[in-house]
Amino acid sequence: MTRRVCVIDTDPGTDDAVALWLALASPELDVRLVTVAGGNVGLGHTLRNARAIVGLAGQAVPIVAGAEGPLLGAFRSETQVHGADGLAGVALPEGPPATPGIAADAIRALLRAEVGVTLIGIGPATNLALALATEPALIDRVAEIVLMTGAWSEGNITASAEFNAWSDPEALAMLLECGRPVTLATLELTAQALVTRERIDALRAAGGGACLDATARIMSGVPPSRRFAHRGHPLHDPCAIAWLIDPTLFTHRDVHVHVECGGVARGRTVVDRWDRSGLAPNARLLDTLDAEGFFSLLTERLAALP
Ligand code: BDR
Ligand code: CA
Repeated sequence: MTRRVCVIDTDPGTDDAVALWLALASPELDVRLVTVAGGNVGLGHTLRNARAIVGLAGQAVPIVAGAEGPLLGAFRSETQVHGADGLAGVALPEGPPATPGIAADAIRALLRAEVGVTLIGIGPATNLALALATEPALIDRVAEIVLMTGAWSEGNITASAEFNAWSDPEALAMLLECGRPVTLATLELTAQALVTRERIDALRAAGGGACLDATARIMSGVPPSRRFAHRGHPLHDPCAIAWLIDPTLFTHRDVHVHVECGGVARGRTVVDRWDRSGLAPNARLLDTLDAEGFFSLLTERLAALP
């Protein structure tokens, strides 16, 4: 099997934790670097969490700190969903130390060393955009960019905007315009990956080690969402990882996406699903998810971790 060399840029974050474990458990992905931004919580917490998550999986992947906030505008965290510590109050053992350096430099160093790197973004897009903006010649080394970001109907941080897109819309716009293939797992896709009490019980029943146990505890600590009549909460970030592991779980379409950067609609992703603009597509939109297949994959992979 050819393993896909990839970077995961993240802001853990309850669902980021599950996404990282899914990626680290999957032989299809060769995770060479984890870069961290402030997002769901401040960089101090997201970096500590990333170290603990990778450490619990027993893997020695370099973890490098990056942006504390967006390219422009103010930083705002999302503690209502993720808790003050970013992991819904679930304490993990201290992880390995971070690798010294800055995320954008580490991403560029990997791109210089490898051709065909997949960039996976499951937080604000700042680190990835900075890496590509500071050495544009490296863009050809990027195989593709896969992001959990955006929404084509309504947002989850404002009426207009999804949290990651809203956190750094200028950075997201740069990625969409960089000329490499971009795939988006938006809120409409991740709404199909609903974590319910039954699904947490099924996950627990799979046995497994500390990572699976922590996943169940983290999922139980996230408040059920009003958007889903309190039936559960959407498991956003693992959808982007699952796409790279098993694309047969998804349907998709090519679309043009514009990112609104100003005013009340800051962070809105205007997704032209029906080609009304006639503009050339700049993204692949993940449309539907086989939820049962997705949760089976997640359970099987997480059960194999320590
Ligand atoms: C995204 O924002 C964060 O709260 C989640 O980790 C996910 O990346 C969903 O809008
Ligand atoms: Ca995230």
